[in-house]
Amino acid sequence: MTTIDRRLGDAPPAELLDPAERMSVDELRALQWERLRWTLRHAYENVPFYRRHFDAHGVHPDDCRELSDIAKFPTTSKADLRDNYPFGMFAVPQDQVRRIHASSGTTGKPTVVGYTERDIDTWATLMARSIRAAGGRPGHKVHVAYGYGLFTGGLGAHYGVEKLGATAIPVSGGMTPRQVQLIQDFRPEIIMVTPSYMLTIIDEFERQGIDPASSSLQVGIFGAEPWTEQMRGEIENRTGMHAVDIYGLSEVMGPGVSQECVETKDGLHVWEDAFLPEVVDPLDASPVPDGEEGELLFTSLTKEALPIIRYRTRDLTRLLPGTGRPAMRRMQKITGRSDDMIILRGVNVFPTQIEEVVLRTAGLAPHFQLLLTTEGRLDALTVRVEARPDCPPERRAGAGASWWRR
Ligand code: DLL
Repeated sequence: MTTIDRRLGDAPPAELLDPAERMSVDELRALQWERLRWTLRHAYENVPFYRRHFDAHGVHPDDCRELSDIAKFPTTSKADLRDNYPFGMFAVPQDQVRRIHASSGTTGKPTVVGYTERDIDTWATLMARSIRAAGGRPGHKVHVAYGYGLFTGGLGAHYGVEKLGATAIPVSGGMTPRQVQLIQDFRPEIIMVTPSYMLTIIDEFERQGIDPASSSLQVGIFGAEPWTEQMRGEIENRTGMHAVDIYGLSEVMGPGVSQECVETKDGLHVWEDAFLPEVVDPLDASPVPDGEEGELLFTSLTKEALPIIRYRTRDLTRLLPGTGRPAMRRMQKITGRSDDMIILRGVNVFPTQIEEVVLRTAGLAPHFQLLLTTEGRLDALTVRVEARPDCPPERRAGAGASWWRR
């Protein structure tokens, strides 16, 4: 039996870092201000929504005279992207858009995002930086079990792995026995997957009589859903690998907006050369000082196809001083969401989506209860809904519950 030499877990040597990761705070703030002014002008001049939005709030890109002036500008929400479905938020002509991704929204319509060639290159660079901060190096094999498709997880990770000079194994999600087989056969050092699905893979290892700690995996890069320190402890104890957090959202780019350093595991460094973070009071969007909890907002600093200004993520966290990358602030692990979005196995689900289905289904009363439970390792959602007197018998009583469980 081969013994695994678990060498990963060190900070990358300085010569491997991107220039932005080595900047002083002053250099970084100067870069952010220059990029912010470009972004505000680009959005105002090329996206009718932003022109109307800024005009309605009496602000103009020229009003941004220092970085903190960002607070004068209005926030943007998921509803704004939905109202401009599908391509109304794009700031470049369609022939410059190289890729489209989408994420679930509050109605049947997804939130659509686009990328130019340069945006994809920037994203790949930031993802490569994230994987490197997690312990990845050129030459490693990376098992990507985030979903490939409109979701940003799979392709976002994939391009980052290739940019780093590592080998991407594009497995995508599902078919758990095969995930285990491929890990055993291909011997990747790194896995990128949602933390809840990692636990399912670990269970599958054990079901097949294989000790998960004997696998080749040395680092797991987990995100797309909230996870706790307890979960980190469980994954690390059962597999012997490092479990690090990666955060992102499609509206702002996808995975790789912020990343935990493997050597510190103390929250996620926001890649501040590309994204300007703010924390505000979730009720009135007033600024909250660094160190205090509130809702996280992002302004993109380089994005061409979809510049995003003060996007309300609804994610709750606090901004802390940098450690592994001293000039870049960290965000604490996400503690919750300011709205009622449920993240079920990595998929965003809104009660309003369920309400829509309930309302258009004959025989169901418009009142329902959502029961979130954990079955084994996975979250489960049961919808309890009352029957109207005219409800067909097969949908009544117990039948209703299983009919709803997908
Ligand atoms: O989940 C992008 C992603 C893919 C991130 C793979 C990390 C890894 P969306 O589908 O747009 O994008 O969902 C974004 O997921 O606002 C958070 O609520 C949640 N989320 C993402 N990463 C984390 C994390 C992708 N590390 C929404 N911790 C975000 C907690 C997370 N929540």
